[in-house]
Amino acid sequence: DKGNHRHFMQKEIYEQPVVVAQTLRSYLRPLESKVALPDMDFDLSAIERVAIVACGTASYVGMIGKYWIEQLARVPVEVDVASEYRYRDPVLLPNTLGIVISQSGETADTLAALRHMRAAGVTTAGIINVPTSSMAREVDLLMPTHAGPEIGVASTKAFTCQLAVMAAFAANLARAKGRLGDEADVVQQLQQVPEAMSEALGHDGDIEAMAPKIAAARDVLYLGRGPEFPLALEGALKLKEISYIHAEGYASGEMKHGPIALIDEAVPLIVIAPSGPLFDKTVSNMQEAQARGAQVVLISDAEGIAQAGENTIATIEMPKVAPLIAPLVYAVPVQLLAYHVAVAKGTDVDQPRNLAKSVTVE
Ligand code: M6R
Repeated sequence: DKGNHRHFMQKEIYEQPVVVAQTLRSYLRPLESKVALPDMDFDLSAIERVAIVACGTASYVGMIGKYWIEQLARVPVEVDVASEYRYRDPVLLPNTLGIVISQSGETADTLAALRHMRAAGVTTAGIINVPTSSMAREVDLLMPTHAGPEIGVASTKAFTCQLAVMAAFAANLARAKGRLGDEADVVQQLQQVPEAMSEALGHDGDIEAMAPKIAAARDVLYLGRGPEFPLALEGALKLKEISYIHAEGYASGEMKHGPIALIDEAVPLIVIAPSGPLFDKTVSNMQEAQARGAQVVLISDAEGIAQAGENTIATIEMPKVAPLIAPLVYAVPVQLLAYHVAVAKGTDVDQPRNLAKSVTVE
């Protein structure tokens, strides 16, 4: 039931404050200022490396997780798309935790990668939405998301719920490694996510109003730095899959190593840049593109927009949030933009051509 929404995707984007709160409830103990995981029968403090495997949108959660886990826990992380992982003969060292991320828990490549890791004797964990799925049954530690059924082929609420669980995992691993610092601060930041997401949803009208400009483009580029780089990849994937517009995501600093050659007035550039330590660098990459005629949409907070919002075709203002939670909050405008562009183009938003919700063949 779509309720009063036009598409399941729109409904699922709007459900995020509720389902992310629901998911966080089982990972946060606010009264004790603690971030918790389900019980496990292995010793988290013995984990020396993490190998994350997933497909599509879930793989971008893995990439964001790499930033968080390495920064908070100082444990090295590798991230692979599942279809490559199994066939590249990965080196599986002792004390590795293998993590699979999947909404359905049935994606064939991810399931095969999980079985590969288990056969090699690696301890495994899964961030999974369907609790009765094959992956949920086969992992050593199930870290569920509570997104509820996701019907739209384009993943939205599963993505942000996976991020919420990934943040909780990173904090727990950091604590196990004696590196977490102020845990109450992490709890507080994560608790702010639902409200910040609601605020982000409040900009739906602005995004809808600018969507026709993007809908007319043949190619669109997304830029981000740090944890916002995988979000740029996610934005590009979302736009491709439902609007059929060619889009690519790049790390902002990579522009000058090739993609800037594509820039002209016809290529909108979506810049995902919360204010903070990386902001100036991203802005200088953005300005290099603007000097070549790029039509920029800047997604930032009031401070960032005040500093760099000039000469853009549009700005989308996000609340000012802690860097840890920025990817969850900035996911909202990225999803809404893809959604409204697809609606403007009149594509089948919930059932895009050539795609299936669950990819159970290799
Ligand atoms: O069910 P899974 O999370 O394992 O699915 C993984 C990908 O197939 C999925 O995220 C896909 O990329 C989505 N259509 C993205 O919107």
